[in-house]
Parts: sequence; structure tokens; C-alpha cells
Amino acid sequence: MIEDMDWNKMWTEAMENASWKKRRGDMTEFWDRRAKHYNESIKQNDRPAQIMSKLDIDSECSVLDIGAGPGTLTIPLAKIVKHVTVVEPSSGMLACLEENAANEGLENITCINKKWEDVHPGEDLGEYDVVIASYSLSMMDMAAAFLKMDTVAKRSVHLFTFAGDRMWDYTDLWPELYGEEYQAGPDFIYLYNILYQIGIQADVEISSTEHKQRFSNLEEAVEQWKENLNISTPEAGEVIRSHLTAKLIKEDGSLWSKNTMKSVSICWRK
Ligand SMILES: C[S@@+](CC[C@H](N)C(=O)[O-])C[C@H]1O[C@@H](n2cnc3c(N)ncnc32)[C@H](O)[C@@H]1O
Repeated sequence: MIEDMDWNKMWTEAMENASWKKRRGDMTEFWDRRAKHYNESIKQNDRPAQIMSKLDIDSECSVLDIGAGPGTLTIPLAKIVKHVTVVEPSSGMLACLEENAANEGLENITCINKKWEDVHPGEDLGEYDVVIASYSLSMMDMAAAFLKMDTVAKRSVHLFTFAGDRMWDYTDLWPELYGEEYQAGPDFIYLYNILYQIGIQADVEISSTEHKQRFSNLEEAVEQWKENLNISTPEAGEVIRSHLTAKLIKEDGSLWSKNTMKSVSICWRK
């Protein structure tokens, strides 16, 4: 029976067994290292605009952005809503966010440099009309994370993540780099079932999105993939170079990585 399954426990186990979790080590340090390149890559995609169109926001509302990164959504949100509060453990990401906010002249953003697990309603957190977590659901106890989101949300909670296979070709690259099969992390269906088991029947929408990334040359792409895969040996560089030579597309004097991915939007209203 599906009711007998403990989806939160299965999520934790699947997270612990995920290849990237085992190899990347401390994720906050990982995001600190990736922050600048991640900040550049989001500027080449229309994902922020697509997500913004799904949010129930207005000029009077307050928003909480969990795992905001360089402000992918925080920056466009802060131009519309009254106030945005950010919970983000990576100081590298926060430095990018603060620079992006300053460049746009935005002064209605408050940043909390902590993990979601380490903030507490009534202490660090108030209440917010809309709560968002976009591609940042890496908490091990997801039921506790969702319950905390529900506690601080006045109007709605919006989650955004992948559905199905990720776009990074790790299934092909991982065995060559590490001599072991790639084990993906848990898919969105765990999240939906965890919500169901804590009494939240959420709306779900799956859509196809194109993810694009531009590189000036092959070496720049190789360096970024090494950074993303957390591997720095010359042998790994060769494997990645040969993979990218076949994969990247030449266009307008640049090299592009273009992938279609399935993304999912999960939302519940109070
Ligand atoms: C892939 S980035 C997503 C950034 C942005 N939300 C977006 O949609 O582009 C993931 C971000 O989640 C943050 N993050 C990871 N685990 C977190 C946690 N437990 N609590 C809060 N943020 C977390 C990371 O530091 C990183 O900045």
C-alpha cells in the first residue's frame, strides 16, 4: 500500500545515495565556488521570467526566497513586490545577489546567511505572503522543511525543481570519470508524496524548458564542467573535453550547451 511507505525516509536515503552528494562534499562550499559562473549562466535563460509568471504576487506582498542563489528570482521579484527576504547559506551566492541588487538600485531585500534547517519561525523568520524555493530543495528532512515553509506562509508556497532526467549527461560521464555508475538524486515524485503524507495536497505542473549556456571557447566550457563535477585532474579534463567537443553547438562565434529539460512547479495555497 502506498500509505505504508515512508516517503520522507525514502527521500533521505535516496539523497544519501546520490552520486553528487557523495562526491561534492560540503554543498555550501560547492555553491561558493560555483557562484560567479552560476550568476552568469542564469542571465542566458528565460527561466526566471517563466517562473515569475506562475507566482501569485502584487506590489503589497512580502516574499520569502529559500536558497535564492545569486537572486535569480529575488531580483525580478524585488522590482514588483514590497519586500523579499532571502535565506541562503552560500556567502559567495549572497555576494553576487547583493551586487545584482545594488546594480538595480534595489533596497527592499533582507538576506539571512543560513541554511533553511537552521532558521526558526519567530526568531529569524516572520510571516510572508508567498514562500518560494527554486531548485534549492536539498534538505535531508524534507517533511520538516515543508512544515516550516507552511508555518511561515500566509498565502501560498511555490516549489520549482526538475522532473525526470537531469540535463547534465552525468549518466555517460560519471562511469568514465569515477569508474562507477551514476546514481541520480530523488525525483520530484518523492516531494509530492511527502507533501501528501503531511496533509498537503499540492497542485503540480510539468513543462519542458530549454536550458542554454554560452561559452567563449572550449577551454572555458571544460573548466566550468570540471568545477561543476568537482574534479580537477588532467585525465578528467580530457574525458570532459572529448564529451563537450561532440556536444557543444557553434553559433554566432560562441559555443553553446543547449538542453531541453522537464521542470516541475508544485504549489499549495493556504
Ligand atoms: C541551484 S541554486 C538555485 C538558485 C536559485 N533559487 C535559482 O532558482 O536559480 C541552489 C541554491 O540553494 C542553496 N541551498 C542549498 N541547500 C540549501 C538549504 N538547505 N537551505 C537554503 N538554501 C540552500 C544553495 O546555496 C544554492 O544557492
